[in-house]
Amino acid sequence: LLQASSFLSLLFLLTTAAHGGDYTRADFLADFIFGSGTSAYQYEGAAFDDGRTPSIWDIFAHSGHTHGATGDVACDGYHKYKEDIGIMVDMHLEAFRLSISWSRLIPNGRGPINPKGLQYYNNLIDQLISHGIQPHVTLNHIDLPQALEDEYGGWLSRKIVKDFVLYADLCFREFGDRVLYWTTINEANIFALGGYNEGIIAPGRCSPSLGTNCSKGNSSIEPYIVVHNVLLAHSAAAKLYKKKYKATQNGFLGLNVYTLWFIPYTNSTVDVIATQRAKDFYVGWLVDPVIYGDYPDIIKKNVGKRLPAFTEYESKQIKGSADFIGVNHYTTVHIKDNPSTLKMNNRDFYDDMAVELIYNQGSELTDEYAIMPSGLYGVLEYLKQVYDNLPIYVHENGQMTRRNGTLYDKSRVEYLHAYIGAMLDAIRNGSNTRGYFAWTFLDCLELLDGYRTSFGLHYVDLDDKNLTRYPKLSAHWYSNFLKGKSTSS
Ligand code: NOJ
Repeated sequence: LLQASSFLSLLFLLTTAAHGGDYTRADFLADFIFGSGTSAYQYEGAAFDDGRTPSIWDIFAHSGHTHGATGDVACDGYHKYKEDIGIMVDMHLEAFRLSISWSRLIPNGRGPINPKGLQYYNNLIDQLISHGIQPHVTLNHIDLPQALEDEYGGWLSRKIVKDFVLYADLCFREFGDRVLYWTTINEANIFALGGYNEGIIAPGRCSPSLGTNCSKGNSSIEPYIVVHNVLLAHSAAAKLYKKKYKATQNGFLGLNVYTLWFIPYTNSTVDVIATQRAKDFYVGWLVDPVIYGDYPDIIKKNVGKRLPAFTEYESKQIKGSADFIGVNHYTTVHIKDNPSTLKMNNRDFYDDMAVELIYNQGSELTDEYAIMPSGLYGVLEYLKQVYDNLPIYVHENGQMTRRNGTLYDKSRVEYLHAYIGAMLDAIRNGSNTRGYFAWTFLDCLELLDGYRTSFGLHYVDLDDKNLTRYPKLSAHWYSNFLKGKSTSS
């Protein structure tokens, strides 16, 4: 154990030392975009107001997950967006990444539009634009309308493709005159794993043997079906955008992927091969089809008949369906080969991947991430080399801390400073990265931890009925950077 931990500390030192240094906003091109982000369920609140109906997250959170926390009020962005945009302006934020609540816009998932939902997003987008802040909009950030989950099992059914395209069509038509950057679905790999393999995020499904918190599911096949339907829905929406809107709106549409960075635990050949396998399973699962039209061979081999196959027509539609890849990156893990799981019956995704993941974080979900900026450098370099140097937006990156009321978040400043520095190094080495969004603008609801952890640049006092926002050290640091000042942390 001692040996393993000193090995990890050495790696940690080596990887943190490589990036950072002093840089300013001027080291990035003027049209590189720096922003921050949030998502509808985590930010908006007003969960029962003005015609919104429940999403799968409302149902999941209300059934006692997320440590009893819900997004009923969250940061009340539904009522406080103007105040928040005022803060963004003062900070010199250049872009804001937000998502649309499908069930606020189309309460039944399909059919009549909710005028108040439409009004809210029009107001929000107008307010951003009038202050020169670019909206980057995600259509679905893990909050499918519960109506569609009840009707046909949501992302488990192919019926979702048609409904998703109708919803996307509405968004392009109503907001596409002002929104130029669209992301179809947020980190479908984590949504499929958390939601259908381990059951720790909505809709909380997994094989009953895997956890007591799950509703019925089948971890051996469901994550693969979900990602398959996500790719079909994404590419059908992309096709629609190209055909119907691209010529007049001139926007860009991409897919978002959660990317851990993987490094071999030892330099043994088996660990090195296992590390590539992890990259194929995690990143290639979503990005290979979008670039090459099919899943990586190793996934096809290890998953076999449980993996849905694309028809020739589908494969053609998926290939080239993204103008950019959105990357959510937080941390690096070490990979150890673990072939024994391949002998198991009823294998899940991790068994199929046949590796052991060794996190650098402590054992608690609330422990901070080790600062390993070379992870972001590695991801950007890998995407450049393997995926045709497609444009990249770092959609999420940030430090997790316990939510303890302190505004002095020095480790978040160190984290942002180091990771933005690593991104600059990758860009200097040819990465086609076009933007960066610090996660997250405010401490709102966190996926697994409710209100126990925070990623925010601003603290939100949940005990105060005004939900007052207070800038942390990291907000000052990011703002100074955006204003052109020196960045030494
Ligand atoms: C990724 C998710 O997109 C976001 O919703 C979440 O808050 C962050 N990771 C941090 O866990």
